[in-house]
Amino acid sequence: MPCVWREWGSMTRVDRKWFIPDTVWVWGDEGWLVPLRRQDAPSDWAELCQSDDPIITQVDDGATDRGLEPTSSSSAPSLMQEMISMLDVEAGMKILEIGSGTGYNAALLAQLAGAENVTTVEVDPNVADHARSALHKADFPVTVVTGDGAFGYPEHAPYDRVIATASVRDIPYTWVAQCRDSGRILLPWGSNLDSGGVLLTLTVHNDGTAEGKLSEPVAFMRVREQRRKNVSWSDDEYEGNFTQTTTSHFPREVFEVSSTARFAVGTRLPELSPGKTKNRDGSHTYRISEYTSDSWASLTPGPHGKHIVRQQGARRLWDSLEAAYDWWLQAGRPEPDRFGITVTPEGQRIWLDSPDNDLPPL
Ligand SMILES: C[S@@+](CC[C@H](N)C(=O)[O-])C[C@H]1O[C@@H](n2cnc3c(N)ncnc32)[C@H](O)[C@@H]1O
Repeated sequence: MPCVWREWGSMTRVDRKWFIPDTVWVWGDEGWLVPLRRQDAPSDWAELCQSDDPIITQVDDGATDRGLEPTSSSSAPSLMQEMISMLDVEAGMKILEIGSGTGYNAALLAQLAGAENVTTVEVDPNVADHARSALHKADFPVTVVTGDGAFGYPEHAPYDRVIATASVRDIPYTWVAQCRDSGRILLPWGSNLDSGGVLLTLTVHNDGTAEGKLSEPVAFMRVREQRRKNVSWSDDEYEGNFTQTTTSHFPREVFEVSSTARFAVGTRLPELSPGKTKNRDGSHTYRISEYTSDSWASLTPGPHGKHIVRQQGARRLWDSLEAAYDWWLQAGRPEPDRFGITVTPEGQRIWLDSPDNDLPPL
């Protein structure tokens, strides 16, 4: 096998371009993702493969001419390297990867653990076929399973390590159940407010639970089944039976992309989805919705700090948002790395600083 000398030691035998499809996607004018074809722009394609940038390899679950949402990609090589070192992979370990994508990361894992020890699961059949064929051609006979990674792959369990390369809000207990005692699970965890995720490293205990701390923010796509769904508010807002109040309290930073406030509020209200619309006068209305309770709320900034709040549905979402934000302020604005998660067969529990310090109910 050819050697590709990169600055990071263990990655030297795997060339990313073996795994990148001939058509990749780049942001074009007018905010659309458009195809960049190897045959039309061979040097741009090669430059992307050699870069440390993420490369989008599918949009809108398989659109062919243009798209709006990246749905498969090859993550940045330096991030893959960092995640693999956090996973602490040793030769002979059995590894389960969720989200095969191009197959590149599976090859990196195979290089360390042995291809026969790596199983990777990909939900999209076309993407899975590409990864299978690229891994085969590159001589890494990894098992590529087409299916929903939430079910893991019990046939090869127990695993020493589980790594997800798509983010989750609800951690499938299956991953814990299929990992051996003292095994490690690494995944990007994110609420609906911040779906890209923050890395979470879990250690599996012999009582069948797993526990660990969050560390750094990353930008992964969400597993298909947990993509956020929005409540429709456009027409209902003006015709529906909402309540209207005023407030002087506007947690603006919750609406800023990837702010710490946004992350922290998401730990308390993981199902809350954000939105923003432009008003005729150029100002913005800030919106939140919760699909599971069919509720929405909005805040329209008003003069002299008197903002209009509208709420509709089973939950008074703006009140909950304010309570979660105030809790975060009172707790001293903790950063993501002070939070942790415990996963049990009954579900997941988020805590601050230590597993016995559950977040208080809202
Ligand atoms: C960021 S890409 C993975 C990158 C990949 N590890 C690589 O090295 O190229 C995320 C992948 O997760 C896949 N995915 C989304 N939901 C999934 C699920 N429920 N089970 C398995 N794969 C899933 C997507 O189709 C996508 O290919």
